[in-house]
Amino acid sequence: MNKLLIKDLDNLHLVAKDFLKQIGDSKIIAFYGSMGAGKTTFIKALCDVLGVKDTVNSPTFAIVNEYTDADGNPIYHFDCYRIKKLEEAYDLGYDQYFFSGNYCFIEWPEMLEQLLPEDTKKVNITEREDGGRNVFFD
Ligand SMILES: Nc1ncnc2c1ncn2[C@@H]1O[C@H](COP(=O)(O)OP(=O)(O)OP(=O)(O)O)[C@@H](O)[C@H]1O
Ligand SMILES: [Mg+2]
Repeated sequence: MNKLLIKDLDNLHLVAKDFLKQIGDSKIIAFYGSMGAGKTTFIKALCDVLGVKDTVNSPTFAIVNEYTDADGNPIYHFDCYRIKKLEEAYDLGYDQYFFSGNYCFIEWPEMLEQLLPEDTKKVNITEREDGGRNVFFD
């Protein structure tokens, strides 16, 4: 189990860089963590490091947002919080995204746990008593 510490928001970028280095070629990243744990915030930092110029926000109306990285490749940002049934993931065409070879950053992956590819990198974010965040991953 790897662990990274986000001490505060100023520290976010450095940790995001480190994280991307450590996960190597993994493209499907599932972010577990309770409400307000810092999933969107961390994904925003990852997108920044990857050169995304679009606004990174949790998808509000759609389940998935698409951004473009510095090389012109798409990055998919899912917020599955409102998915209640697996059919909704099928309707969304989740496999097109998951098997595209592009980054997929997934919030609330519990909602489509069974559909996650085997090589999904699972990440857990927890809030610390000192206000920082722990980032755990395999
Ligand atoms: N590393 C951090 N250090 C300090 N504050 C943080 C950190 N990460 C997130 N926060 C703060 O916590 C709040 C919630 O963060 P965020 O929206 O990223 O959580 P989330 O896990 O995406 O929540 P949700 O489950 O509702 O989508 C924000 O106000 C954010 O500024
Ligand atoms: Mg969020």
